[in-house]
Amino acid sequence: MYILAIETSCDDTCAAVLENDRVLSSVISSQTDLHKDWGGVVPDIAKRAHQQRIHPVVMTALKRAYKTLSPSPFPLTGQGENKSLDYYMKQIDVIAVTKGPGLAISLSVGVNTAKELAIKYNKKLVAVNHIEGHILSNLVKNKNGLPERLIEYPALALTVSGGHTKIILINQDDKFQNSLNPSPSKEGAPLDREAANGKYIYEVVGETLDDAAGEALDKAAKLLGLGYPGGPVIEVVAEKGETNFLRLPKPLADKKVLDYSFSGLKTSFYYQIKDWPKEKVNQHLADLAASFQEAVFESLIRKFKLAVEKYQPKTLLASGGVLANHNLRKKLRKLAKETKTPLFMPVKKSLNTDNAMMIGMAGYFKALKNEFEEDIEKLDRDPRMKI
Ligand code: KG4
Ligand code: ZN
Repeated sequence: MYILAIETSCDDTCAAVLENDRVLSSVISSQTDLHKDWGGVVPDIAKRAHQQRIHPVVMTALKRAYKTLSPSPFPLTGQGENKSLDYYMKQIDVIAVTKGPGLAISLSVGVNTAKELAIKYNKKLVAVNHIEGHILSNLVKNKNGLPERLIEYPALALTVSGGHTKIILINQDDKFQNSLNPSPSKEGAPLDREAANGKYIYEVVGETLDDAAGEALDKAAKLLGLGYPGGPVIEVVAEKGETNFLRLPKPLADKKVLDYSFSGLKTSFYYQIKDWPKEKVNQHLADLAASFQEAVFESLIRKFKLAVEKYQPKTLLASGGVLANHNLRKKLRKLAKETKTPLFMPVKKSLNTDNAMMIGMAGYFKALKNEFEEDIEKLDRDPRMKI
């Protein structure tokens, strides 16, 4: 099954082509340069940029997928490099698109493009939840079918990005097996549909009550004059800093609560440095970045650990933009070791931050379950879509 996936939920214009769960191509057109002077994503600017970029991004993804499949299994070979959109679209079986959650006017661009293509080329369409995409980014395989990962249930997922921070328990409906692990047989025979047709049940067991963790890092970076997006800069600046330079609160200390709260951290950080002259802030930049980052990560790990103790999962999954951070990855590995639970994290940076590979992956599972949109014309974005 060839899947064209489209993702425009925030400020990256993304398209990817997958053959089942294997990525043939992925294009991410970042808008960071357009937003950084504003210290955050400006919806109107994001929308316009998505509109200008989505068609070239889709075309590039299709072309690259074609090149990856060399020698091409597509029927019309030998026509040179520059084939038309019509040609490439003929080879696609399913279009997957992010329906939500995200910025409404950004989501619209992807959804409308997917609808246009599906109607024009008479393709099946699946609408994907962005957060499910982040969870399943852990199962995306390269063109050689690697890595092979086996998820055992119940599994516990931590998704941490600029828009959300959630702990999600994943269980399987007992009637079905292998739902997150449908793999084609070695000979490349058709998938075992029955095994792949499983149901998995997501239950949000903890989530942020205010800011997302990535959002908190972005806000702290802004306060420190470090630019946007803040997470990656804070990571670099914090490297040589003292993590206990500032005393910051431990949010929601109650052990029964699995939720997060980052706005108190941000406020405490702000009040502690607001009267400092610029020189003093600059002098202690590394310590300030390290203290704030540590407070955010300590909280992420503390609550995730409580959830692990409570639900005793057999597999841990972590994903989302903030997982690009080496320090956080290290802390999660330590937790996995302590609790003797296998942990999966996306294998490369571009799978952590927003991308269309993960949307294709989620779309693939939906397609296996025949969860196609019945009335494509009626499909609409859902900025507050629940998982
Ligand atoms: O998943 P993502 O690309 O988009 C959303 O769905 O929100 O996540 C973006 C977030 C931003 O807040 C960004 O600062 C953060 O991920 N981020 C990082 C790093 N790279 C991106 N946070 C900490 N360390 C990083 N290396
Ligand atoms: Zn995201």
